[in-house]
Amino acid sequence: MSIISRNSPLPRYYQLKEIMREKIRGEEWKPGDLIPSERELSEQYGISRMTARQAITELVNEGLFYREQGRGTFVSRHRITQHLTQLTGFTQDMQARGQRASAHVLSARMWPADEKIAERLHIKSGDNVFRLHRLRIADGDPLALETSFIHFMGCERLLEEDLNAHSLYHLLDVKYGQPPLEADQELEAGLVGADEARLLKISVGSPVLYTRRTTYTERKQPIEYAASMYCGHKYTFYTHLQREHFVR
Ligand code: GLP
Repeated sequence: MSIISRNSPLPRYYQLKEIMREKIRGEEWKPGDLIPSERELSEQYGISRMTARQAITELVNEGLFYREQGRGTFVSRHRITQHLTQLTGFTQDMQARGQRASAHVLSARMWPADEKIAERLHIKSGDNVFRLHRLRIADGDPLALETSFIHFMGCERLLEEDLNAHSLYHLLDVKYGQPPLEADQELEAGLVGADEARLLKISVGSPVLYTRRTTYTERKQPIEYAASMYCGHKYTFYTHLQREHFVR
């Protein structure tokens, strides 16, 4: 299908969606490509701009396209898969995919833990923790926003580290003797607010995945509590499930 049929029982926006899907399947439109505007699509296919908008919006909601404020709509990149059974850090996940991970540190400081964080880290509320707020980037593409609260004896030494360039988990492994060994993690769906949307370069209200992770080192000692927000259209969380009891 490459034209929109007026006699078809299929609604026009639906036909346009199928045409655009085909362009992605056939690699005429590749990940990261800017797609034509509503006006261009409406002229090219002889449909109204509203119809073109509906088709684009549905493909944005399905994750095939993503919008960037003031720039237009793009074809989504292949999703990044995070395995939910292995404890990995962002840098390690990206390296496994042949991508270059980096971070833009938005703030790094010592911070008195509130009750919730103190409970997760098994410390007293008001105890000082190292608070790190980072935009996580893969090959120049913003993927996630993360706030980590780190606590161990001497954690204030992290203030001197260049966390724009270095992996936190790698530093904890090799320099601080606090290797992250296991974690409890929760996942939740949500919609992005205005400030985060600007940093992640997505439209306000786009779907995001929240994760909350408590990371432990030896003897199940908590060292990190991290709250992250991943762009919904760029990430897949993967779990392998096995049946425990099977009675024939
Ligand atoms: C993931 C986790 C964070 C963790 C980070 C470490 O993104 N959600 O809890 O802090 O990895 O990543 P890196 O080692 O690249 O700093």
